[in-house]
Amino acid sequence: MKGAAPRRDAPLGVFDSGLGGLTVVRALRAALPCEDIVYLGDTARVPYGTKGAATVTRYALGCAGHLVSRGVKAIVVACNTVSAVAPPRLRVELDLPVLGVIEPGARAAAAATRVFKVGVLATAGTIASGAYARALAACSTRIETYGQAAPLLVPLAEEGWTEGEVPALAARRYLAPLAAAGVDVVILGCTHYPLLFDVIEREAKAMLGPDVTILDSATVVAREVASFLRERDLLRGGALGADGAAAPGATRLLVTDVPKTFDETAARFLGERAGAAEQIDL
Ligand code: DGL
Repeated sequence: MKGAAPRRDAPLGVFDSGLGGLTVVRALRAALPCEDIVYLGDTARVPYGTKGAATVTRYALGCAGHLVSRGVKAIVVACNTVSAVAPPRLRVELDLPVLGVIEPGARAAAAATRVFKVGVLATAGTIASGAYARALAACSTRIETYGQAAPLLVPLAEEGWTEGEVPALAARRYLAPLAAAGVDVVILGCTHYPLLFDVIEREAKAMLGPDVTILDSATVVAREVASFLRERDLLRGGALGADGAAAPGATRLLVTDVPKTFDETAARFLGERAGAAEQIDL
């Protein structure tokens, strides 16, 4: 197909309020090793989870607009808070596919629940938006959604406090209303929470029973992004070298501020050393 190849070879744009979205990049790297990724973390304005929908949408337009100026072929909104409020506006403003993280997580949860009760741990903004409840209702009207804002889990993940008494206590407090409701699936609806997966799962099994499913939406999102690109013939086609071996893609990091702890924090979310980031203004 003439004209399609350059689009296929363009990078995938990913953005988040900060560095937490690197959990999604990590999952994308595993699912789509040949893709080039341009990641933008709005580290100067993080957190978004405590801000209002209009502000988050305005910030999101700035981030997405910058990625478009870098020639991306599609945008993955790694941030749950942005995915909860901004995609309709982004889709109106931008002439390229915009993929959020809410619907893939909701679809996976709907497939996993046996009692039709799903819990969601997320930022205050995501919970207030009702986006997960709407997405789950679109999967099945039988599903009841129980949202719980879990704001303390964000700084715990940033600080690397992912094991021990403090995160366990926080997890128990946030899981208590979900246990009272009798959910059998808990969606980790925030970029940061996959770092606390083990502690949340352990506490959830103790409180909700051994069969509870904890859903890390990053993995589900990466799978859906891969299918989306494949279906639209947008997978990086030039990835096959002369010997037929796929060339690995590169990850480029853009940030709006370089925090002092950038190296450790980025490595914690990405699962490997991140390399240098380019600082940009929005
Ligand atoms: N990236 C945000 C999210 O997934 C968490 C951090 C923030 O509040 O900005 O909702």
